[in-house]
Amino acid sequence: MEDIEKTRGQWSSNLGFILAAAGSAVGLGNIWKFPYLTGQNGGAAFVLVYLIAIFLIGVPIMLGEMSIGRNAQLNAIGAYRKLSKEKGKNWTWLGVMGVVAGFIILSYYSVIGGWVTNYMVQYLTGGIEGQPSKYFEGFISQNYMPIWWHFIFMGLTVLIVIRGVSGGIEKSSKIMLPALFILLIIIMVRSLTLPNASLGVDYYIKPDFSKITPEVIIAALGQVFFSLSLGMGCMITYGSYLSKQQNLQRSAILVPSMDTLVALLAGFVILPAVFSFGLKPGQGPGLIFVTLPQVFLEMPFGAVFGTLFFILIFFAAITSSISLLEVIASYFIDQFKWSRRKAVISMAFFMFLLGIPCSLSFGCMGNYKVFDKTFFDCLDYLASNIMLPLGGFFMCLFISEIWGLAAANQEISNNGSIPFKSKKMFDFMIKWVSPMAVFIILVDPFAQYIAEKILHYYYL
Ligand code: TRP
Repeated sequence: MEDIEKTRGQWSSNLGFILAAAGSAVGLGNIWKFPYLTGQNGGAAFVLVYLIAIFLIGVPIMLGEMSIGRNAQLNAIGAYRKLSKEKGKNWTWLGVMGVVAGFIILSYYSVIGGWVTNYMVQYLTGGIEGQPSKYFEGFISQNYMPIWWHFIFMGLTVLIVIRGVSGGIEKSSKIMLPALFILLIIIMVRSLTLPNASLGVDYYIKPDFSKITPEVIIAALGQVFFSLSLGMGCMITYGSYLSKQQNLQRSAILVPSMDTLVALLAGFVILPAVFSFGLKPGQGPGLIFVTLPQVFLEMPFGAVFGTLFFILIFFAAITSSISLLEVIASYFIDQFKWSRRKAVISMAFFMFLLGIPCSLSFGCMGNYKVFDKTFFDCLDYLASNIMLPLGGFFMCLFISEIWGLAAANQEISNNGSIPFKSKKMFDFMIKWVSPMAVFIILVDPFAQYIAEKILHYYYL
C-alpha cells in the first residue's frame, strides 16, 4: 500500500480534492443541461424531484464511491476488482461498464464543449453576429465547423490529462469555481430584472404536481448521476488520490451542495430570460446558446460579461471532461501498462470519431431517429439515463453485499477516528433506498412499454 501511495498522484490538500471533485461535478451538466431539462420537464416539478433525488440518492452514492476509491487506491475498474477478489468474487465488469459509459458521455460532451469553445472565441473576438437564435441554428447545422470545434475541445482535454492529475486539475478549479459563482450572481441580477422575468421565476419555483410523470422522474434521476459525476467510477478514481487522513463525509456533502447551487443559479439566469424574450423553455440543448447571448445584448457591458461567462463555462466544461478522460485513461494505464500518452491520445481519438455523428445529428443527420431520438439524444439517454443509474445501483449492491457496509463504515470514519454520525442513515440508504429507487425508476418505463404492447396485442 505504501508503495502505491508513493507512486500514484495525490491531491495536495483536502481543499484541492474537494475543488477537483467539484470541478468534475460542476460542468455543462449544471449550466447547459439542467436549465434545458427543467424547461423540457415541466419546470419547478422537475426541480423538486431533482433536489429530493440529490439528497436521497446522490449524496450516499457519492460517499460510497469516494470510500471505495480511497480504500482501494485504484482506478474504478481496479478498485472493483481488488475489493471483490478479496471476497472471492469478481466484479470487474462493473468498472468496465463505467468506463464504457464515460467513453460515450465524453464523445457527445465534447461536441457541446466545442460549441462553448466557439462561443468563447467569438466573444473574445467581438461577439456573435446577427440575431442569437439565427446564429446558433446556422452554426450547429453546419457539417464541418462544429466538428472542428469538437476536435479542439477534445484536443485541449488531451493536453491537460497527459500532464497528470494534481497540477492542472487542482489549480484551475481553485480559481474557476469561485469566479463562476460570482459571475452567475451578477448575470442572474440582470435576468431577474428583465421585463416579465417573474413568469420564468414562477415556472421555476412553483411546482405543478400534475407534471410529475415517470419520464420527469427518470430525467431528474439521470441528471443527478450526470451532474454529480456518479455511476461510472469517476469519484472512485478521484477518491483514490486522496490520503487516509482526510474527511470523506465533509467532501460528500460539500461537493453535491456546490454542484446543486451552481445548477440552481444557472436556472435563475436562464429561465427568467427565456420567458422575458418569449422563447420556448422546452427547446432542448440549444437553450443557453440562444438565451444567454440575448441577455448579454440587453446588458450594459454585455460583451464583457458574455466573454467572461463563456470563458467560465469553458473552464467548467474542461474540468469535467478531464475527469471523464482521466477515468478512461487510468484504466488502460493501470491495467495494460500503456503509457499515459498512448492511453490518452488513442482513447480521445476514438471518442472524437464517435462524436462526429453526434455533431451531425444537429444538421444533416437530424432526420435519422431511433425511438424518436436523434443519435445525440440516444447516446445521452443511454449513458445518463440507463448506464449511470445502473452503475449506481450495482455500486450499492457491491457495498452492501460484497465489500460490506462495515468495511465502508470503517473507511468513511477513518477507522473510527472521525465520528460517522449518519452511519445508520447511510447504511439504510445504500442497502435499501437508493438501489430500490433506482431500480423502480429504471424498470418502470420498460414495464409500461411491455404493458402497452400486451394491451395492444389483445385489443387491436
Ligand atoms: N458532472 C459533469 C457535468 O455536470 C459531467 C461529468 C464529468 C460526468 N464526469 C462525469 C458525468 C462522470 C457522469 C460521470 O457536466
